[in-house]
Amino acid sequence: MKKRIIANWKSNKTWSEVTHWLNNFPNDEDSLKTLNSLEIILAPPYPFLALARDIIVERELPIKLAVQDLSAFGSGAYTGEVAAFNLQDLNIEYAILGHSERRRFLQESSQLIADKVAEAVKWQIKPILCLDRPYFAEQAKFLQTTLLEKCLLAYEPVASIGSGQAEDPSKFLEIVKEMSSAYGARELIYGGSVNADNVRAYLRVYSGVLLGGASLVLADFLDLLYQAGSADLS
Ligand code: PGA
Repeated sequence: MKKRIIANWKSNKTWSEVTHWLNNFPNDEDSLKTLNSLEIILAPPYPFLALARDIIVERELPIKLAVQDLSAFGSGAYTGEVAAFNLQDLNIEYAILGHSERRRFLQESSQLIADKVAEAVKWQIKPILCLDRPYFAEQAKFLQTTLLEKCLLAYEPVASIGSGQAEDPSKFLEIVKEMSSAYGARELIYGGSVNADNVRAYLRVYSGVLLGGASLVLADFLDLLYQAGSADLS
């Protein structure tokens, strides 16, 4: 199975920076061959989704699109919210949901996040559900099994996000054990201070990585992708 590399730009970048980043993403035969073992998923801020979609299609880039959040409601009178319904025709395949920054700065609860998961699934958008230890079990309780099974699970230790203090990949088995009691045996993605130097260690055990900082500068991101895409992860 392809290793997933999920790039979350958070609230960074302008229209021209997005254009520059995507117009310079390589699409020559050699690069595409190296990147072929990866599923690259990009989550730009909402205003740039259509722009990103257009450049990806035009340049035939091996990049899929995600949103960083979704409304818990459907279409209708919910001022300021972006509903999964609104995203039809934009080729959005994934939604990052329950990121700890949204729990922290926007007071998102496990119930609200579960409602967002339900909306995503209803519109065939695959949720990437972000989880940390304090709410592994609580979040699972709010999700029916049929919804849970549709989620990709991303383990994101809060202390490692944006801190440069990536969690030791040797904790993988411990995490899988803790998580599987609430979620069953599942593939697991890791997020938190992943960069080009440590990505291989994570991909040896996890099925993918979720990045913030390391995805912003194209040269750094490509460095990481080439590390991750080289066939031998030993
Ligand atoms: P970081 O962010 O790579 O900048 O630590 C990761 C995340 O928020 O998932």
